[in-house]
Amino acid sequence: MDSHEVQLASYPDGAVEARNFRIETAQVPELGRGQVLVRLRRLGLNAGLANRIGGPNTAYGPGIHPGDVPASDGVVEVLDSRSDLFHQGDLAVRKSPWRSIEVAAADELRRIPALGADIPLEAHLTVLGHVGFTAYTGLMRFGGVRAEDTVYISGAAGGVGSCAVQFAKAVGATVIGSAGSAEKVRLLGELGADSAFNHHDGAALDLLHGAATDGIDLCYDNVGGEQLEAALEVLRFGGRVVICGAASQYGKAGDRRGPVNYLRMIHQQLTMRGFDVTFNEDLRQDFESDATRWLRAGTIHSVHTLIDGFGRIPEAFASLLSGGNSGRMIVDCDG
Ligand SMILES: NC(=O)c1ccc[n+]([C@@H]2O[C@H](COP(=O)([O-])OP(=O)(O)OC[C@H]3O[C@@H](n4cnc5c(N)ncnc54)[C@H](OP(=O)(O)O)[C@@H]3O)[C@@H](O)[C@H]2O)c1
Repeated sequence: MDSHEVQLASYPDGAVEARNFRIETAQVPELGRGQVLVRLRRLGLNAGLANRIGGPNTAYGPGIHPGDVPASDGVVEVLDSRSDLFHQGDLAVRKSPWRSIEVAAADELRRIPALGADIPLEAHLTVLGHVGFTAYTGLMRFGGVRAEDTVYISGAAGGVGSCAVQFAKAVGATVIGSAGSAEKVRLLGELGADSAFNHHDGAALDLLHGAATDGIDLCYDNVGGEQLEAALEVLRFGGRVVICGAASQYGKAGDRRGPVNYLRMIHQQLTMRGFDVTFNEDLRQDFESDATRWLRAGTIHSVHTLIDGFGRIPEAFASLLSGGNSGRMIVDCDG
């Protein structure tokens, strides 16, 4: 049986490009006890993965070096099984190496419940998936979002951000989002954001001041840098900041910028809290029940950019890092 894998071919010299990867044929080993043979159907890509290229092992996964096959969350279909947990035809989500067909331990897979054909496969990588769970955990547990809050979300058109916008709206909050193009700003309007701006249109502080004339209560930060500093300036007394990510600072080891105005935290009695979603599994049932209900009711939607073809994973990843996605970047590997 033919399988293919995407390997890192070389370290990027600056921005990650598609040519830093190569596609090779892969061996599929014999199926052992407790294992399943799976086919990758949809692959979700994460900007944070670029931060691990050439880097050390972190809580998010090992450093990625030439010859390595990266992994991110994917929807897989079970082709064959030597486990009681899964049968042929079952669908599941797993941390998927960028490999078209492979053998996996059955207990690494999370079964996709039979939700019905009205729910697209991609939703399991967006509002019902890891990015959705990250947004939910950050907003609900660490941000304590409330209907009366004005929430500012940076990187709001990305995978996590587009879920955070929709979840914050679902609980009734007022939402301001930032994104990197006019098209993404339009998308934020479609998702229900009350106000949105393109962070390339001027200084972050001026843009956020203009969008949040009465200040904000909660900042959900995916980006860091100038946008985080702007948020610290406009947070009301007692405001909260949830640090989910820092996309503007990735790949800048040794030259990272923290907020120069963090003393605002003293005078405004602000709280800044980072979190790692992997330590919050106890919240998953609440997340699945709320997100499925909101999805069924049409309150939230799967927001993704779909690229066709396993062979286009390198191109899709490079495009994600240069802002070519609206919502989650997903590769359809069926073709
Ligand atoms: N804490 C956790 O447990 C956890 C879990 C998962 C992910 N994360 C983090 O959450 C963040 C969002 O993840 P994601 O999967 O949603 O990524 P994503 O879809 O790539 O979104 C990140 C967005 O950040 C923006 N961005 C990138 N570089 C930027 C720069 N230099 N300045 C300003 N904006 C920039 C881009 O949006 P524009 O093009 O619109 O500017 C990009 O779409 C990442 O930082 C990731 O590492 C954290």
